[in-house]
Amino acid sequence: MNLPFTLDTDTVWYAIGDGSLDKSAHKLDDFPRIIILVDENTENHCLPVLYHQAPNLKMCDVIRVSSGEKNKNIAQSSYIWNELTRLNAGRDTLLLNLGGGVITDSGGFAAATFKRGMRFVNIPTTLLGMVDAAIGGKTGVDFHDFKNQVGLFVDPVGVIIDPVFLKTLDSRQWQSGFSEVLKYALIMDKDLWFRLNGRHFSEIDDWNTVISKAARDKIDIVRFDASERGVRKNLNFGHTIGHALESFFLRTHNETTHGMAIAAGMICEAWISARLFDFEEDQLNEIVTMIDKNFERFLFDESKIQLIVELMHQDKKMRDNKLYFSMLRRLGKATHDVEVDPQLIEASLLYYINQEK
Ligand SMILES: NC(=O)c1ccc[n+]([C@@H]2O[C@H](COP(=O)([O-])OP(=O)(O)OC[C@H]3O[C@@H](n4cnc5c(N)ncnc54)[C@H](O)[C@@H]3O)[C@@H](O)[C@H]2O)c1
Ligand SMILES: [Zn+2]
Repeated sequence: MNLPFTLDTDTVWYAIGDGSLDKSAHKLDDFPRIIILVDENTENHCLPVLYHQAPNLKMCDVIRVSSGEKNKNIAQSSYIWNELTRLNAGRDTLLLNLGGGVITDSGGFAAATFKRGMRFVNIPTTLLGMVDAAIGGKTGVDFHDFKNQVGLFVDPVGVIIDPVFLKTLDSRQWQSGFSEVLKYALIMDKDLWFRLNGRHFSEIDDWNTVISKAARDKIDIVRFDASERGVRKNLNFGHTIGHALESFFLRTHNETTHGMAIAAGMICEAWISARLFDFEEDQLNEIVTMIDKNFERFLFDESKIQLIVELMHQDKKMRDNKLYFSMLRRLGKATHDVEVDPQLIEASLLYYINQEK
């Protein structure tokens, strides 16, 4: 893979890899007016980098919102709509979302709904944003404690994925994004798996390639199935059990990140996959060892398993009161719409808490 590379699809242009910001900044000249959306952290750490690479953007208005998932709500959308109104933004104005998944989700949603639709460009600044949230057109906000309850599928016009922004990211956020990188390796990219296997995320020195491969994997999936009717569901590997654990631990465990929960979910779902698809025990051990090298296990008592399974019933992937999973057929290949018996789900959680590491 030659980096940085650009890719034009029917709806979105992508610029990916070290130097992509520099290479693609001219694309922003096509827009008569740009407003930049940041949170306080990306304003401090990322806006100066953006200005350095694209000095013309210093003239743009900036909207700043407060960081964090707790602020990804309709009140924040309302604030952004207010600011866009105050700044006389029109439908020809571009919103430039500079931040992690919270900024790209909520900025995309605010832009897509303002005056029936302004265009937006995503410049992700977290690992999770670069390999996942900024790509694929899912925008939205949380509502009444339900994640991503209100939103739209709408593509940005462009996505610039430049690892230059990651220099200031803290280790917890690196770890969180890393679980999604591992997910791509497991569901579709054996080459990426071989590149990563055996390494702690802090030992990885070729992030430029790793991020580019993972981002490319997601782009390839969403291009074929934008509306998640088929192969895009494979991206949910680890996420059915992972989301339930995330909801469960968000109440008790302050340090929980999405990535930690998904890592746990991937252990359980890989174990179920091995039961259903008969892949070799060695492969399961290899997967579990790699996840354990990078993520601490959550501790919970067997008596909580029932509650965790009940939390899965909130999941958007639930149909006819049945749970459908994305599973691994083997390392590097996934499948979706696999109905899984609740008893097997419980057994996987038991395996997770009891397995000797
Ligand atoms: N739309 C999708 O397809 C999709 C996919 C996955 C996740 N998501 C969403 O993404 C969100 C999580 O995204 P996230 O993990 O990027 O979280 P985030 O946006 O909250 O960012 C994490 C923290 O890092 C800070 N930050 C961002 N960039 C930084 C940088 N370069 N240096 C220092 N600090 C920086 C942020 O201010 C924030 O405090 C969730 O709301 C999730 O639902 C969406
Ligand atoms: Zn995820």
